[in-house]
Amino acid sequence: MAVVLRNVEKSFGRLRVLNGLELEVGKGEYFVVLGPSGEGKSTSLNIIAGILRPDRGEVYLGGALVDDSGGVYVPPERRNVGYVFQSYALYPHMTAFDNIAFPLKMAKRPREEINRAVLEVAQLLGIREVLNKKPAQLSGGQRQRVAVARALVKRPRVLLMDEPYSNIDPLLRESVRAEIRRIIKDLGIATVMVTHDREEAMALADRLGVLRRGRLLQVGTPQEVLQKPCCPDVAVFMGYNLVPIDGRLLAFRPEDAELGAGDFVGELIDVEFRGRWWAVVARVGGSLVKLYTAEKPSIDGKIRFGVRRLLEYAAE
Ligand SMILES: Nc1ncnc2c1ncn2[C@@H]1O[C@H](COP(=O)(O)OP(=O)(O)OP(=O)(O)O)[C@@H](O)[C@H]1O
Ligand SMILES: [Mg+2]
Repeated sequence: MAVVLRNVEKSFGRLRVLNGLELEVGKGEYFVVLGPSGEGKSTSLNIIAGILRPDRGEVYLGGALVDDSGGVYVPPERRNVGYVFQSYALYPHMTAFDNIAFPLKMAKRPREEINRAVLEVAQLLGIREVLNKKPAQLSGGQRQRVAVARALVKRPRVLLMDEPYSNIDPLLRESVRAEIRRIIKDLGIATVMVTHDREEAMALADRLGVLRRGRLLQVGTPQEVLQKPCCPDVAVFMGYNLVPIDGRLLAFRPEDAELGAGDFVGELIDVEFRGRWWAVVARVGGSLVKLYTAEKPSIDGKIRFGVRRLLEYAAE
C-alpha cells in the first residue's frame, strides 16, 4: 500500500474534524476523496504530508509507519510526498523554474541534476516556455501546471492534490485533468486527490471515498458507489433524489425517472433546458426531486412518473 491511515482522529479545539478515518491507497492508484466543504479534506492531506499530526491513529507510507500520533513522527521533507496545494501556494518572488526547483534545492541536490529534472518535468507538463516567468505573469492554467511540476519534480512515491482543477477555466478543465491524470499514471505515482466535485471525482478516480462526519462512509470504484450508495448521505452526494414515503426512504437518480405512467405523482415546479435533456424539478410529498427527460413536459401543474431503478433505505 502506498498510503494507509488507521483510525485517524483530529480536532481543532472542540471541533472534531476527523473521526476514525480509514484510508488505503494502492501503489500507482489514483484515489479521490469526495466531500463537501469543511469536512476535513485538506486536513486529511496535511496529515498524510506530515504538516499536521493526528491526535490519534497511524499513518503509513509505502508500508512504513511515519506517524503514530505519539513518539513516531517523520517530518514532511523526509516523506517523499509531492503536494499540490488548494491555491497552489507558489512562491510569488520566484520564477516558475525556481518554484519547480525548490524541493530539489532544499534537498541540496547538485545543480546539474536540478536543471535536468526541472526541464524534464516542465517538458512533460508543457511549460518549458514559461520557466522564466513569475507566478503573477502566468495564466491560471500555467500556474496550476507549475504547481504540479513542483510536486512531481522529486518523483515522489505519493502525490497529494487538493482541489487542483477548481480554478481552471471550465472549458479547459476536462482536457487538462485528463492529461495530468495520464502523466501521473504513466509515472506510476499513487495519488490522493480531494474534491467536492462529484463529476470530477467520477471521471478521474480508480476508486473514490465519500468523506462525511470525519470518516469515509463508502469506498469503491465510481461505478460501484454510483450504482449502490451505502446510505442516504452517499446517495444524496451521488445525485440521487430522496423521497420519504410511508416510513420508507426511497432513492432514485434523475435519469432513471420516466414521465407518464408510474407510481409517483408530483407537482411540477420548474423546467430547465440542459442541452441534451430537460431537467424537471417537482415536489413529491414534502420533497423536491429532479427528473431528466428527453421531451419537454407540458407544464400543467401535475406530473406522474415511474422510476426504472429504485433503492430503498431504512428510514432514519
Ligand atoms: N488550523 C485550524 N484551526 C482551526 N480550525 C481549523 C483549522 N484547519 C481547519 N479547521 C476547520 O476544520 C474543518 C475542516 O477543514 P478543512 O480545511 O480540512 O476542510 P475541507 O474539506 O478541506 O474544506 P474546503 O472544501 O472548503 O477546502 C473546517 O471546519 C475548518 O474551519
Ligand atoms: Mg480544503
